[in-house]
Amino acid sequence: MSIRAREGRSLLTLVGVTVMIVFVLAGARLVIPAKAAAPDPAKGAEISTQCAVCHGSDGISVDTSVPNLAGQRYPYLLAQLNAFKQGTRKNPMMNELARPLSQEQIEDIAAYYASISIHAGQATKSK
Ligand code: HEC
Repeated sequence: MSIRAREGRSLLTLVGVTVMIVFVLAGARLVIPAKAAAPDPAKGAEISTQCAVCHGSDGISVDTSVPNLAGQRYPYLLAQLNAFKQGTRKNPMMNELARPLSQEQIEDIAAYYASISIHAGQATKSK
């Protein structure tokens, strides 16, 4: 085999391998969905301005009939907002408010309220 033919073959192999790598990478991008962004409490804080009229600007509610959200656990907030959105937890106001929220917005809101630190006073035993 001539030197030129051998060079030609190794060039073909190189091109072939490059094409294969490109296909594998392109395929991986199609198969593996882009990693969802981490929940963003700052974005959640922006959305929470819609909630402040009842839940307070810092997650401490304005009325005894409304639960506080400040310092609540992230997974619990996520579960409740999804339940309101899906209608499995029923409250006409909350169902209406949660329905238009995207999964990302729900995660951001939950991250925001969970990020507020609260300091409970020492509990005293009631008589
Ligand atoms: C008009 C008043 C009002 C507004 C505005 C409002 N909420 Fe609520 N929210 C309530 C009430 C009342 C409840 C209690 C519902 C129940 O009894 O099940 C509640 C419950 C919740 C709960 C469940 C709390 C728990 O301890 O289980 C979450 C989470 C929540 N709201 C988030 C939000 C978010 C996020 C927004 C803004 C997008 C919002 N709320 C806007 C009145 C409101």
